[in-house]
Amino acid sequence: MNLTSGIDEPLVLGIETSCDETGVGIVRGTTLLADAVASSVDTHARFGGVVPEIASRAHLEAMVPTIERALKEAGIAAADLDGIAVTAGPGLAGALLVGTTAAKAYAYALGKPLYGVNHLASHICVDQLEHGKLPEPTMALLVSGGHSSLLLAPDITSDVRPMGATIDDAAGEAFDKIARVLNLGFPGGPVIDRLAKEGDPRAIAFPRGLTGSRDPAYDFSFSGLKTSVARWIEARRNAGEEVPVRDVAASFQEAVVDVLTKKAVRACKDQGVDHLMIGGGVAANSRLRALAAERCERAGIRLRVPRPGLCTDNGAMVAALGAEMVARNRPASDWDLSADSSLPVTEPHVPGHGHTHSHDHVHEISKDNLYS
Ligand code: KG4
Ligand code: ZN
Repeated sequence: MNLTSGIDEPLVLGIETSCDETGVGIVRGTTLLADAVASSVDTHARFGGVVPEIASRAHLEAMVPTIERALKEAGIAAADLDGIAVTAGPGLAGALLVGTTAAKAYAYALGKPLYGVNHLASHICVDQLEHGKLPEPTMALLVSGGHSSLLLAPDITSDVRPMGATIDDAAGEAFDKIARVLNLGFPGGPVIDRLAKEGDPRAIAFPRGLTGSRDPAYDFSFSGLKTSVARWIEARRNAGEEVPVRDVAASFQEAVVDVLTKKAVRACKDQGVDHLMIGGGVAANSRLRALAAERCERAGIRLRVPRPGLCTDNGAMVAALGAEMVARNRPASDWDLSADSSLPVTEPHVPGHGHTHSHDHVHEISKDNLYS
């Protein structure tokens, strides 16, 4: 449902720098034109996790080349854009700052409106590039390295409601930690996913967190599982026995995806929502995708999961949400937009103070504000 004066198929460039991926995407409405990503993940691998300072520096170096690559890939001129969107949060403060500053500089120089958008809402909205407009409402299971939440989204541009979230580790974080215990490198999700295919998911009965009858229905907990897996491995090692890595990977993964899918389906049923969207890096997990498909089908719920490349962090997801903001005529952000490392999920974007940008407005702005 379009608000009256929004642009029909807005051409929007999106910049994502919340973690270790410098992503620049370009979309026209819900059509993906370019998705350029430069990752600094290899630089972090030897530390076993993302080092914020290294990520910020890598964003700075990759920013302009990645923007140019995206423009070339899309075959458009920057002057034709209807807006520039950027992740305003949540994420690493320094990394976000590189993205927001670049977005302001480009938007200011080109005379385009600027949209600071929410990383989590972007993970949901990206599915529009693959499966068309999101049904309203949509239930979203958002599972990444930093977040695990169930969100009800009556309107992805203005109304996102948290139903539940992890009370400790995020799902992706659990994958990364178990991979570290097994000496499998970083990030852990993809390698556990691969090894689990050759293991037995029923080999070891690891605990399912917060699934008791008195536990909160939509919250998650993965820290008990993580400890239990680590102890199990340690006991084997102490006894001088070989650790069956594939079985551990498969059994651990099964415990995670069993709980995620069960709670997501339950939330849809309880709330009478017949569409479930799964997004975020962990949505790339093959077992999560398969089990969700099975359980949704049984429950009569339509499942939407973007292809794995759009689940992990990228610029296209930011462009997708930015385009939706323009299409619905949401107010642009102000030039003093600041990166907010803990931007709440309930704020899909950071609107300015009641006006949309125009060229006139752009020229009134003091250059000082660009760097705030
Ligand atoms: O959304 P994302 O790219 O970045 C954040 O916003 O956190 O998610 C990264 C997380 C990492 O923890 C990574 O291990 C996990 O997603 N991940 C996976 C898979 N691919 C990436 N977890 C499980 N299975 C996968 N195939
Ligand atoms: Zn993410």
